[in-house]
Amino acid sequence: MERTRILREMGLGPVWKLRAVPAEAVLDVGEPQPASIPLAESVPVADLNPPLATAPAMPGSPATGMGWAELAAAVSSCRRCPLCQTRKQAVLGVGDVNADWLFVGEGPGAEEDARGEPFVGQAGKLLDNMLAAIGLRRGQNVYIANAVKCRPPENRTPTPEEVAACRPYLERQIELLQPKLIVALGRPAAQTLLQAEVKIAAARGKLHDYRGIPLVVTYHPAYLLRTLLDKAKAWEDLCFMKRSMPTLRGD
Ligand code: URA
Repeated sequence: MERTRILREMGLGPVWKLRAVPAEAVLDVGEPQPASIPLAESVPVADLNPPLATAPAMPGSPATGMGWAELAAAVSSCRRCPLCQTRKQAVLGVGDVNADWLFVGEGPGAEEDARGEPFVGQAGKLLDNMLAAIGLRRGQNVYIANAVKCRPPENRTPTPEEVAACRPYLERQIELLQPKLIVALGRPAAQTLLQAEVKIAAARGKLHDYRGIPLVVTYHPAYLLRTLLDKAKAWEDLCFMKRSMPTLRGD
């Protein structure tokens, strides 16, 4: 069965079998269960997340009022931080600009830098499988972006200054997209969006708020590739997102 194959590819099958979770529990992600979703009001972001000591945003957003074409041009010629010196190309994002779902990662890696598209390497394959597991597909009601648009050398975590320099572009993307749900993949994306110190283990399973848009936090696919056991938690997060979506504005 297709879903079984996808779960096996994600490395979830054996984990769920070991824990003796009934197959129905794994498969039944499409059913809305609004009563089980902790709402943002009951989980104040401020209580969970102390303010992050980030670099201050640079004055005057370079992206204010831009449309997609202008934004793409601005990002591809951006020189706001030193990452522009080592990138092959900037990677704005990919997908459906009318998407309900926005997935935000950390920053391009070597393959993304070469191809100009986010999440096209190994982590991207896992992300595609995660999307498929909840009935989603890259480019169809899904947009994928990163916290920083240029590859940090050696795939290091972007510095607070690099994130701050790039944040106006992500903010403008979100303004243009107006997604129903934002999924922050990993800590740097979550911290960039929530502007707070985030621990994934504490932040997952709840609806947070990004300027009025619900936001959920889960593990980054690259981390999941290294940490088999947390794939089961990622699967719980996917189920939570899938259940939450029909309860969100406009549905
Ligand atoms: N990791 C990310 O966070 N983003 C990508 O685009 C690729 C890998």
